[in-house]
Order: sequence, then structure tokens, then C-alpha cells
Amino acid sequence: MLIKNIKALLQTTAPSKALRGSKLSSLASIENAWLLLENDTIKGFGTMDTCPEYNGETIDASGKMVLPTWCDSHTHLVFATSREEEFEMRLKGKSYQEIAQAGGGILNSAKKLQNTSEDDLFDAAWQRLNEVMKMGTGAIEIKSGYGLSVDGELKMLRVIKRLKEKSPIPIKANFLGAHSYPAEYKDNHQGYIDLIVNEMLPQIAKEGLADYIDAFCEKVAFSVSDTEQIIKAGAKYGLKAKIHTNQFNCMGGIELCVENNALSVDHLEVVNDVEIECLKNSDTIATLLPSAPFFLNDPYQPGRELIDAGVAIALASDYNPGSSPSGNMNFVVSLACVKLKMTPEEAINAATINGAFAMELEKNFGSIARGKKANLIITKPINSAAYIPYSFGKDAIHKVIINGKEF
Ligand code: NIG
Ligand code: FE
Repeated sequence: MLIKNIKALLQTTAPSKALRGSKLSSLASIENAWLLLENDTIKGFGTMDTCPEYNGETIDASGKMVLPTWCDSHTHLVFATSREEEFEMRLKGKSYQEIAQAGGGILNSAKKLQNTSEDDLFDAAWQRLNEVMKMGTGAIEIKSGYGLSVDGELKMLRVIKRLKEKSPIPIKANFLGAHSYPAEYKDNHQGYIDLIVNEMLPQIAKEGLADYIDAFCEKVAFSVSDTEQIIKAGAKYGLKAKIHTNQFNCMGGIELCVENNALSVDHLEVVNDVEIECLKNSDTIATLLPSAPFFLNDPYQPGRELIDAGVAIALASDYNPGSSPSGNMNFVVSLACVKLKMTPEEAINAATINGAFAMELEKNFGSIARGKKANLIITKPINSAAYIPYSFGKDAIHKVIINGKEF
């Protein structure tokens, strides 16, 4: 396929490390461009004066821009049902943490998941996956974490495995057994950690069900030393850590993750100077999830401060039934500009190539480069890249191309 007369081809770099600082702030692009695909792969691109002769399928993209699809590196899109009853409780004044402590929240989702079959979970997740792909997501990470028992976690991870097998976009599986303490382990935290380490992990490794390990490091969930046990246990099976931390409290989670070479630390609504210093001197990516504080009406992540300090950041949706019942990366990019004080260029970089780095998919996804997968967004006719975050609530997408084909 040839796409010609592209008003601007965005994100034409192939960096060897996640972008940070001034590199994050500039969006490499080519105006008045062509892009040639061979099957599912990017074959070449350049300015229109060098456009090759081509007799196959041709798209005239006059007035439109082309960019790589979003790389959503943090989601929980396998779940049984929505939780709008908790949304209403919060509107009446209860906080997310109060609801969690009263046995709602993650435990509510775990109860519902227990009574849902693997097939039903798969069907619902498959629908959500297709829904986010239509909104421009072309690579995604999906977590377990609503099982909270050996059977429940395995069920979720097997659903993710089936999604991987059927999905035209790459999926990374993240094992989040340490999402919340189940009620029966309320007073026996070590007992649940032992269950994760001795029962869940060996079976998950045996079936090859996870690419990463996660834990919710937070006062209402896992302490720093609990999280350390989980990270170390995962490392024994070669699972790198991508950890939920600093959503509500600074407890030392970031320092722990950096010491253990975590691939990413995710959330970061609250973060102090020592933690920023620690992150900027590391390769750990700060994955910011602005739709969670949007939906919970919490303070937003200090995106501007993190970028100015030189931290590598990615943006992701956190799609889940509790804190972010949306996987719309277009909205995430808009929120990043308005609330995290990022520029459109920074937000697009953070949601494409840096998201790919946060899933170790940067070799094949996240930017326009020869040999990379042809997962692309063709925008509606727009005047500048800034229109993409500007047009919040109605995305700027004309077409999504997955593996070289219109999706
Ligand atoms: O990333 N905060 C921890 N986990 C999820 C929310 C899970 C839920 O409420 O179901 C998050 O926000
Ligand atoms: Fe999350």
C-alpha cells in the first residue's frame, strides 16, 4: 500500500532509548510525505518529490496526517463487569480508598470475576480490545489482578493468552496477583504473598502466561517490603517489574523499583523531589495515567516537573472498571496536555514510542521507521499535530491501519 500526499508524517524516529528532556519535546516529522507499506511492514517513506511509482493500493492522504498507533502500556481490560455503583458512591462523597477498605473496589471486581466463565471473560475483553483498536491503539499491555486466588489469576492470564493468540496487535501480559489482599488474608498478608510466590508464580512460569510482574504498592494494598518480595520472586522467573506506585502516598515504592531495575513505575499522582531525583538517574520509565485522577477527581501527575527534571515518561490509559473505565488514548493525550502541562509533541511521543519502550516493543512499534510494523493512524484533515489533543471528546482519527490493512 502507498499512502501519498501526507500533510505530515509524524514520529519518524527510531531511538535506542526512551525519549526524555529535549528529545521528548520534539516530534520528528516529515511534511508532504509518502509512506510505502509492504504487507504488514513499513517499507519506506520520504518527501513527495521522491515518491516512488506504485501501481498497487494507493491512499491519497491530502490534508491528513499519519502517525504510529498508540502504545498503551498499562491496562486491566480483562474484567467481569463495570462498577458504576462505586462511581455513584464517590459522587456522594466516599473516596476510592474508603470504598476499597470496605471490601469494594478491586475485591468487588474479584468477586464478580470468580463467578464469570473464562469464555465470557474472553468475549467481553475481546470486545474492549476491538473498541480501543478503533480508537487508535496498536499495541497494549493487559494485567491480571482480579483473580486474587490461584485459580482466578490463572483464569485471567489464560484469557490474556487467548487474546494474544487471536489479536492482530501485540499484547504483553502482566501478572498482578499482588493487586489487593483477599478478605481471607486480611490478617495474614505473608500467607497471601507466599501463595503468590509458591503457588501462582511457578504455574504461571510453567505455562508461560506472563511477560511482567506487577504489584499495587500503596497503603490500602502492598507495603514496600511486600512489593520487594513480589519483585524479587518475579525476577527469579525472568519477569521484569512494572509496578503501581505513588497513586495516593509516597512510601518509597519508586526507590525500591529503581533499585530493582523495574521497567516502569506507574501512576505517580504524588511524587516527591527525592523520588524525581531517583527516577531521572535511572532507566525506569514513569508511566503516567491521567484518566485515573480525572475519574477519581484526584490531583494529577506532575508531568511537567518530571519532564523538566529529565525523567523518561510514557502515557497509558489504565483501562479498568474502577479508576478508569475508558481505554481511549486520544483522551489520555488531551488530558496530558491540559492537566499534566505537557506539549502536544511530548504527549504524542509519550503515548507512542515511549509507550512501546514501556512494553519492550520499541523494535517493531511506536514510530515510523523502515522495517517496523505498519500500525498507523490516518487523521482527518487537520492543520497541525496539536489538533489531535485539542479535539478532545471526538478523536481526530480518519482510519486505523493494523498490520498494513484498514481496521
Ligand atoms: O491502576 N490502583 C490500582 N489498580 C487500578 C484500579 C483497579 C480497580 O479499581 O479496579 C489502577 O487504578
Ligand atoms: Fe492500573
